[in-house]
Amino acid sequence: MTTINIIGAGMAGLSAAISLAEHGQKCNLISLQNSERAQSVLAEGGINAALDTMGEQDTTEEHFQDTMRGGAYLADAEAVRGLTDHAPEIVRWLWGLGVPFHSENEKLILRNFGGQKKKRTAYAKSSTGKAIVSALIDEVRKYEAKGLVIRYPHHEFIRLLTGKQSVKGVRVKDLYRGQKIDFYGPVILASGGLNGFFPGRTTGTTANSGDVTAIAGAQGVKLSNLEMIQYHPTTIGISGKRCLISEAARGEGGRLFVRKNGVPWYFMEDKYPELGNLMPRDVVSREMYYAVRQPDCDSQVYLDMTELDSSIWQNKLSDMRQEILEYMAIDPAREPVPVSPGIHYFMGGIEVDKNHRTNLAYLYAAGECTSQYHGANRLGGNSMLGAVYGGRVAAEQSVREFQEWNDIEKEDSPEDSADEYEAPVSRGFHERLGEILVEGMGIVRSEKGLQHALTLVGDMEENAENKRELARLRLAENMIVAALRRTESLGAHYRED
Ligand code: FUM
Repeated sequence: MTTINIIGAGMAGLSAAISLAEHGQKCNLISLQNSERAQSVLAEGGINAALDTMGEQDTTEEHFQDTMRGGAYLADAEAVRGLTDHAPEIVRWLWGLGVPFHSENEKLILRNFGGQKKKRTAYAKSSTGKAIVSALIDEVRKYEAKGLVIRYPHHEFIRLLTGKQSVKGVRVKDLYRGQKIDFYGPVILASGGLNGFFPGRTTGTTANSGDVTAIAGAQGVKLSNLEMIQYHPTTIGISGKRCLISEAARGEGGRLFVRKNGVPWYFMEDKYPELGNLMPRDVVSREMYYAVRQPDCDSQVYLDMTELDSSIWQNKLSDMRQEILEYMAIDPAREPVPVSPGIHYFMGGIEVDKNHRTNLAYLYAAGECTSQYHGANRLGGNSMLGAVYGGRVAAEQSVREFQEWNDIEKEDSPEDSADEYEAPVSRGFHERLGEILVEGMGIVRSEKGLQHALTLVGDMEENAENKRELARLRLAENMIVAALRRTESLGAHYRED
């Protein structure tokens, strides 16, 4: 029996594996790290679904509309329709698997999240990602015991094995033994976002290096919306990275302010009376950027949670309070917390259709490495939904198409080449590229800044030491070129010129 290969064992990869196993289809779950260390465990505030348990007459149509509007109508409407229509079923399924969502009397309690007027976000305190991943791992283990899922942690993606317009499998490296392995069969990429392009500046793990997207792109896989990078408004700097202060803080009543002539100015409430602090993230981050540059304002924005009820701290945000206490020695129930925007999510990536097919036959993609659901700006709470739903859809599509799959002969595989995407990217390279990109592709962009970034990436290309570095540089170039070509401002892409 040919096996389907999943690259990435976070939320999208685990969901795909479960779905394949439910269909009796064997899969290899291949990843750099164990699922327990996947980026998905860092997801905090919750997962969206129009479950309408809060007496607000919420509907999947409104979830659809909010998602499209939040993403400035750049998302694939058909794909978003599938996402939002299936969201209630996905959240109930996760609840059934044992995710400890906040509930009362058998009813899921939902919280407010950005860009949405209705309470629509199911949550497990502010550790929702960890809770979902744990439940998915348990489920995968059942199928592992039946031989339907074989896990390969500590295996690094090297490249796709390609035919003319199709994918025949994937080449990976066993990092413990140093051996290369070719796995034949359809491939689902669930490798996460481009955090590795921004070391020290992202809330995500840089183990999500972006190399899978970069190499797939270099091998002819279509990418899109690469200029769309989400800055999360509320992050804090710790140990060389950005740590997320969940939007749940504002969903539960937290307020942003900057001192203007010495007096707190709650600028979001002032400027956006309807959604206030819960405007979509692109708007909030941009307002923060400009607020601290006003001549009569201080240079620091604060998140004020001092008026939250003690029951909220106890029942809904105790983990967040602990985190802030530990890392910043600030008790957020008593003192405002200094926050700044940090890179959080990549709306762009591998282009897929509503069934998660890429432009190459037998290659699918799901989760943050894809580009169809979030347009120019993702709504908080839609990423875990996109990962779980997307993983399942990609798996179902691969099973449907698997009927056509003629087992590929090994002789058809490309020549083994010593000069492939195997050599590591150096630390200096990482840092230099990160500096260039963050400078050119910040919250506010301009032609001049982008052109400068492009020149610097070009200079780096001349000194690239291997194909992996080159693939990254080409992807970086494509991101900058996409930003240059989009001369209007749209969602997270804001051109001051
Ligand atoms: O703020 C947050 O908890 C982030 C959630 C998300 O990105 O979906």
